[in-house]
Amino acid sequence: MRLFRLTVSVTGLVMVGLCALLVVALSDHPSAGPAPQKQAAAKETVKCPKCGHVQPKFRPDGTERAGCEKCGYTLKAFIAADKGPAKIDGKVLATYPKEMQRVYNELFSKRCSRCHTLARPINVTMAPTEWERYVKRMMRKPGSGIKPQEAKQIWEFLVYDTAKRRKAVLDKIMASLSPPQREKEQQIIERVVKKAEGRS
Ligand code: HEC
Repeated sequence: MRLFRLTVSVTGLVMVGLCALLVVALSDHPSAGPAPQKQAAAKETVKCPKCGHVQPKFRPDGTERAGCEKCGYTLKAFIAADKGPAKIDGKVLATYPKEMQRVYNELFSKRCSRCHTLARPINVTMAPTEWERYVKRMMRKPGSGIKPQEAKQIWEFLVYDTAKRRKAVLDKIMASLSPPQREKEQQIIERVVKKAEGRS
């Protein structure tokens, strides 16, 4: 009997405690503070540039997701990708030499959009030697599927495209280089542009 009464009183205490918690939770709920904002953030989604899986941008613990929950694709580019256009304006492309258009369509668009969207290389501006370093780095990534000979053509396309479509940004980069480095980059640009336009 004593044991029974003890159990009852313990159960009663637990019930009171739960009720108190419930009251606190309920009274806390309708407050018009930062709660709606939090809810909106929780609903934000992000699309994996590799496998296309759409998922919550934030993990259940509120921290930002840095990789795809499905295919495991992880990098800073995951969040930053797709900032700009993922292809070059057809009107601009039409002004490029035929060979550059071919490299764009057959190599660059295909080889450079496998692990991130084409928006990555299209919206980044680099001087020729930096592009060379980058294209080589991409080529060496496991499973890149980029052959050295293709990498060279893609690099030439990037140098040409940078000199034409992104000239303003390129000029700023050039101005920040040391005079010998600037001279070196300038020579590469001239050589690549001449070759692309069939004037070499
Ligand atoms: C095998 C997968 C893969 C392929 C194919 C690939 N990339 Fe990448 N790329 C990555 C990864 C991973 C990163 C981010 C980490 C890094 O910078 O190494 C990246 C980042 C970049 C960046 C971002 C640079 C920055 O820091 O803002 C550029 C530009 C880029 N790639 C260009 C290219 C170009 C051009 C090609 C085609 C020649 C290419 N990528 C092909 C995997 C790839």
